Amino acid sequence: MVARLDGKARRHGWQRRAAVVVAAGLVAAASSAAAAPVLPLVPWPAQVAPGKGGLLLADGATLAVPVGDAAAKAVATLLAARLAAQRGLSLRVVEGDSGTVRFARAAAGKGGDEAYALTVTPGGAVITAAGDHGLLYGAMSLEQLAGAPGKGMVRVPAVTLSDAPRFAWRGLMIDTARHFQPLDSIRAVIDGMVAVKLNVLHLHLTDDQGWRFEVKKYPRLTQVGAWRTEPETGQGPGPRSGGFYTQDELRALVAYAAARGITIVPEIDLPGHAQALVAAYPDLGVLGGTPPVSGDWGVNPYLFNPGPQGMAFVKDVLDELMAVFPSTYIHLGGDEAVKDQWERAAQVQAQMRDLGIKTENGLQSWMIDQLGGYLAQHGRRLIGWDEILEGGLPPSASVMSWRGEAGAVDAANAGHDVVLSPAPNLYLDNLQSDRGDAPPGRIAIQTLEAVYRYDPMPKGIGADKAGHVLGAQANAWAEYLVTPWQVQHKIFPRIGALAESVWSDPARPKDYKDFLARLDPQMRRWRAGGLEVADSALAVDFKIAQPRGVALDARRLTVVLATQAPYGTIRYTLDGKAPTARSRIYATPLQVAPGTVITAADFAPDGVALSTPRRFDVTRDALLTTANSALSACPRGALGLRVPLNADATANGPAYNVNIFDACMADDHAPLAHAKAITVEVARLPRNYGLAHDQHAVIQRYATSPFGELVVSAGCRAAEKAADDRAKEHDPMPGAKVLATWPLPDPAKTPQRFSFSATLPQLGLPDESDVCFQFTASTAGPFYTVEQVKWGQ
Ligand code: ACM
Repeated sequence: MVARLDGKARRHGWQRRAAVVVAAGLVAAASSAAAAPVLPLVPWPAQVAPGKGGLLLADGATLAVPVGDAAAKAVATLLAARLAAQRGLSLRVVEGDSGTVRFARAAAGKGGDEAYALTVTPGGAVITAAGDHGLLYGAMSLEQLAGAPGKGMVRVPAVTLSDAPRFAWRGLMIDTARHFQPLDSIRAVIDGMVAVKLNVLHLHLTDDQGWRFEVKKYPRLTQVGAWRTEPETGQGPGPRSGGFYTQDELRALVAYAAARGITIVPEIDLPGHAQALVAAYPDLGVLGGTPPVSGDWGVNPYLFNPGPQGMAFVKDVLDELMAVFPSTYIHLGGDEAVKDQWERAAQVQAQMRDLGIKTENGLQSWMIDQLGGYLAQHGRRLIGWDEILEGGLPPSASVMSWRGEAGAVDAANAGHDVVLSPAPNLYLDNLQSDRGDAPPGRIAIQTLEAVYRYDPMPKGIGADKAGHVLGAQANAWAEYLVTPWQVQHKIFPRIGALAESVWSDPARPKDYKDFLARLDPQMRRWRAGGLEVADSALAVDFKIAQPRGVALDARRLTVVLATQAPYGTIRYTLDGKAPTARSRIYATPLQVAPGTVITAADFAPDGVALSTPRRFDVTRDALLTTANSALSACPRGALGLRVPLNADATANGPAYNVNIFDACMADDHAPLAHAKAITVEVARLPRNYGLAHDQHAVIQRYATSPFGELVVSAGCRAAEKAADDRAKEHDPMPGAKVLATWPLPDPAKTPQRFSFSATLPQLGLPDESDVCFQFTASTAGPFYTVEQVKWGQ
């Protein structure tokens, strides 16, 4: 998805955060005095009637299933294993109708296979459901009622639940094509999904950058198409990377998911995003030539050729795909297929004439119709991204709406089934905070709250068509997510928020604070299960309240601490030690002397830390340093991505906010009245963006040395307003005052991170000046960003 690259960063106002944190302190105080703690259920069930007292679950307690009911036994065994892992509890699964927890079959009724009832009393618990999935979800609710992970026996609060989902499609997409994801991480994510009753795992198995599904009839798809050379950063070819899943591995994964109520929907993306396929079988491409498996993100030109040979190929692939994946829905992509190659290929144009098709979009529709028909013959249904609407949609096709909600509205109103997975709301590759320690992703920030507030029933869908909304899905695209750690960090905890939207009754008013209190123990269970769960919403942010120049002269500094989400209590220390549940509570902005170190974390009402402690050094050096995450784009608004230093970055590797359309970053608060010198730390990154029709938006600055320069100039924002981009090409910052210029070194001979230093000309400019850092290197790559700026005194 390249269309969103230039999306504006949504910054969150400090004032708002400060207000939130003061409120959070009050809420925590109030809730600790409140009598009934919120029941720890996410998603919130359809009907909840709290009871009196609770059921003691201790070692030796029994989980009783109906005699001969293998499915119920499997659910009980799963619950026993999970409670053993979470609490060290040893529960016994028995057959019969007496046990501490009893699983019982109800007559099939409304609510379908996923509906259940759960009654917990001091004397025992009963989970009743007609369907296997209902029993499973009753068990998951019981697991949640058992609270946060701990040691040994637990008292489950008495309650009666009667529950069924709002939507049938409660999904998550993992992009295994951009970066191959190991199966053990996918299994761990599945374990995390079932806890919150998500039931569709969409695997994006093919793209320009990799083909991950073993096809026995076409071995080159994985021999060739599963591997690529990572882009270089000026020092020769990058490492080879990739991987694929065998059919046996995927069959085992399908079974693992099915045991947790999850259907795996496979995606083969056609006719665009097909470069790995064309690399493996060039005859299936359009204009000839053998491209490499792509190392470029975005939109690449290579299209699949829907001629007779190509269509026979896809049907063969679908035969093998259907043999592995029993899912009714098969996803055939259809997104972002720029049609240039089809427009220029005589063979494709002849095919269109023969078929009486006038437009390339019409040909894509024809292809979808043919393949949808083929799937239907096998009892399956086609689903594709919303672009498949463009040339007219065959009646049987369903639509996954990603370019906002318009595709869903149009398709549902025309009688097609739809799944909502709109960017940016449900694109989990978006960052969840603007924190400097965020791992890579897109910078259209989608907070936990934004996902929580998303309602997958768009307004424009007629009431009589609402039944066509199957549900919603969050997508973890992985262009910038390399490691399982990074992928999981994007998924958790935000899928908890998604779960609430797709399962719970929309008539119940949203209450974010209530949700956070219920999510807290679930986050702990996910973590105890070995998953990486982002603490972005609950990590402490620090902000000096005074303007930078004033702070540099101040004897006391005012520091505001805040968390993004209004939950928990911030506690801090001033001695460099990690805060504990007994450390001082943050209530109002701190007044500290320069040189102080503040370490803070957010704590739950039970005293458990909700976020990793973050440290803030209130030193002069810190005041004089501008981190990459505090820089903005020049021109304004162009900041789109946060990227790793390298494709093989480890979880803790550095990540940088970058502006790929114009390699320019700005410090809008440069302390020029104080600064006598400057050091700029620079990172050189792979330039790997397939921009297709957006390529024209990339600005190539005029360079005067072989590898370009870094030009540092003050007053560039005014210059930005004064000149349009084209006029600026020969003078990057007309009217701005150049503070320093350095020729960039030969990439072949320089490490990826290096720095420049200079004394500054004393031009009498004030503090809070805007200073731009403009790289004029060739846009062919590699490209540059500022890692940090150190203003010297
Ligand atoms: C997409 O994001 N290209 C579906």
